[in-house]
Amino acid sequence: MSEVKNIMSYETVALDDEKSALVILDQTRLPYEVEVLELTEQKDIWEAIYLLKVRGAPAIGVAGGFGVYLAAKQIQADNYDDFYAEFKKAKEYLDSSRPTAVNLSWALNRMEKVVLDNKDKTVAEIKELLHKECVAIKDEDVWMCRQIGEYGLSLIKDGDGILTHCNAGQLATSKYGTALAPIHLGRERGMNFRVYTDETRPLLQGARLSSFELHADGVDTTVICDNMASQVMKNGWVNAVFVGCDRVAANGDACNKIGTSGVAILAKYYGIPFYVLGPTSTIDMSIEKGEDIHIEQRPAEEVTEMWYKKRMAPEGVKVYNPAFDFADHELIAGIITEYGIARPPYTESLKEIFRKKAEAQQK
Ligand code: MRU
Repeated sequence: MSEVKNIMSYETVALDDEKSALVILDQTRLPYEVEVLELTEQKDIWEAIYLLKVRGAPAIGVAGGFGVYLAAKQIQADNYDDFYAEFKKAKEYLDSSRPTAVNLSWALNRMEKVVLDNKDKTVAEIKELLHKECVAIKDEDVWMCRQIGEYGLSLIKDGDGILTHCNAGQLATSKYGTALAPIHLGRERGMNFRVYTDETRPLLQGARLSSFELHADGVDTTVICDNMASQVMKNGWVNAVFVGCDRVAANGDACNKIGTSGVAILAKYYGIPFYVLGPTSTIDMSIEKGEDIHIEQRPAEEVTEMWYKKRMAPEGVKVYNPAFDFADHELIAGIITEYGIARPPYTESLKEIFRKKAEAQQK
């Protein structure tokens, strides 16, 4: 009988070189079924990202990197131009799977840069360099999450109550997570937190995924419906809100799972610090403000039918299902990155974070 593993010991996203496969934990089946998928076809990789089998901004970035490498590996071209034309098609195809989280296009652009910077190399050499790059994207993700965890942990103390929305945990990244990284790191050090996980309508990432991974890690976890956050805050149970992000604009507006904006407004009302945790790969300095971020619209059935025994809204009724919204920068107490904590005004502090990053990369 195969050993039953703790969910925390599974890899969210991995590359199997021998099988030329993207290996993911199918998050649509959690928490009850732990199914590992090995995907070799581009259309299956595209669909896995679109259907949220692999999800969370950093995880889809890593999946995109592995995915486009696998596409490149199969390209038969023997000259650069033919290779690049095929590569570009594969890159654009994967990029179309989810538009809001910038990490996907960020990772795919990084992969494309490898191709563009190495025109003088053979196709075989470029493929080798692409392999290195996608592995580096994943390794860096682990490092970034750990750093974010350290900075986040410096903001809370043993016994604190934390509210989180959606899943920005290990399941959304290569390890630790972003918003949940401080909690997991704290656990490693024997600390205990009380975590309130919003269920996160309509796809229930909080109820199915955050509560699952936190509970498995031994964290005191309470699932609440999204509309209970106000009550929990009013009760005085929440010392800080930690959420992840999908794209942060240059002014600090932070786009994340739908409902995040409401949580930020509630936190402000109750005087609770609202923190956004994410790697610099999620900060898009080319976007000035939240309103300029393209918000993914999802199928109506996610609201009317999914998870219910039978449809819960009349046939033919209109449905609005944006997958994300953004917390206005004025509501955010800090943006926690792998290079430190940015504080308002974000137009300045985010630039400073990127200066630190450039400096560190030069060393
Ligand atoms: O639609 P999802 O489940 O991919 O949305 C995920 C989120 O909104 C996360 O909070 C965000 O990607 C950060 S994950 C570290």
